[in-house]
Amino acid sequence: MLAPMTAQLASRSRRLFVRVSSVVDEAVGIRSYELVALDGGELPPFDAGSHIAVAVPGHGHRHYSLVNDPAERLRYVIAVQREETGRGGSRALHALMRAGAMLRIGPPRNFFPLMPRAEHVLIGGGIGLTPMMAMLHQARSRGQAAHLWVVTRSAERTPFSALLSVWESEGLVTRHYSDTQGLVDLKEIVGREGPDRHVYCCGPSGLIRGVVEATAHWPHGHVHFESFAAPQASDSDAAFEVRLRSTGLTLRVEADETLLAALRREGVPVDAACEVGSCGTCRVRYDHGTVLHRDSVLSPAQRAQWLITCVSRAGAGGITLDR
Ligand code: FES
Repeated sequence: MLAPMTAQLASRSRRLFVRVSSVVDEAVGIRSYELVALDGGELPPFDAGSHIAVAVPGHGHRHYSLVNDPAERLRYVIAVQREETGRGGSRALHALMRAGAMLRIGPPRNFFPLMPRAEHVLIGGGIGLTPMMAMLHQARSRGQAAHLWVVTRSAERTPFSALLSVWESEGLVTRHYSDTQGLVDLKEIVGREGPDRHVYCCGPSGLIRGVVEATAHWPHGHVHFESFAAPQASDSDAAFEVRLRSTGLTLRVEADETLLAALRREGVPVDAACEVGSCGTCRVRYDHGTVLHRDSVLSPAQRAQWLITCVSRAGAGGITLDR
């Protein structure tokens, strides 16, 4: 049995033990959970865009954005959408996470930060609204211009409606319900690019694709995405060969594995963090071969020299890595 310990002490081993202090049914299939330190003390600080890993018994770890105001030090709030067709982690969390339950989590990590001194266009689709809530809190407290566009199917499927209504009355939020309003006009939402204007989007792949298209002409570094999942494997994914320049070793990346996994299998050290192509930690320089880039972090210029090993693949001719 675990002995009580403060979140701060546990964080030294990169694990925190927290207690679920309240559970709220926020929308159809979505519950929010307030997590507090076992001793009621302060939790490690976080910035908007951070997420935590939650250990789900029997299901490994699941990552959830922190929703609440980063100025709050005594609690984390996350929201979990019950995925009926997923691998079961969200269903297990809905079943297990009751008020009073103890959880093991990882400390906050942030691959999706707000840019300093900027005007922010925040676009949250469905459960992808979660990091945007913390972003709007933080932008307001920094005195930065920000507007949150909430894109969901209906009012019944939109979490945090009470706070959204308050922000709406202040002119900070616009809601779009696709069931009654049809397709959202993303070009209109993102508006014109500007030197200090940044767009942030988290949501389903269709929404992310739409924002990519609507901002195709924007400067790199002004449009930011967060995904909770790596790009879907494609039926056309094929095995390919990778040559390591330093040793001459050639290894094969199978059709159903990532380049990162193949490098690890061969004992080639590569740092990694998000493993969904959005943080850039696992990038490696290459100098020969055709790369199928699938990340959301490298600029077109960077892609000429670097690839992201957790999601990108190579063409039929293989590739040489500067390793
Ligand atoms: S580990 Fe984050 S981009 Fe690969």
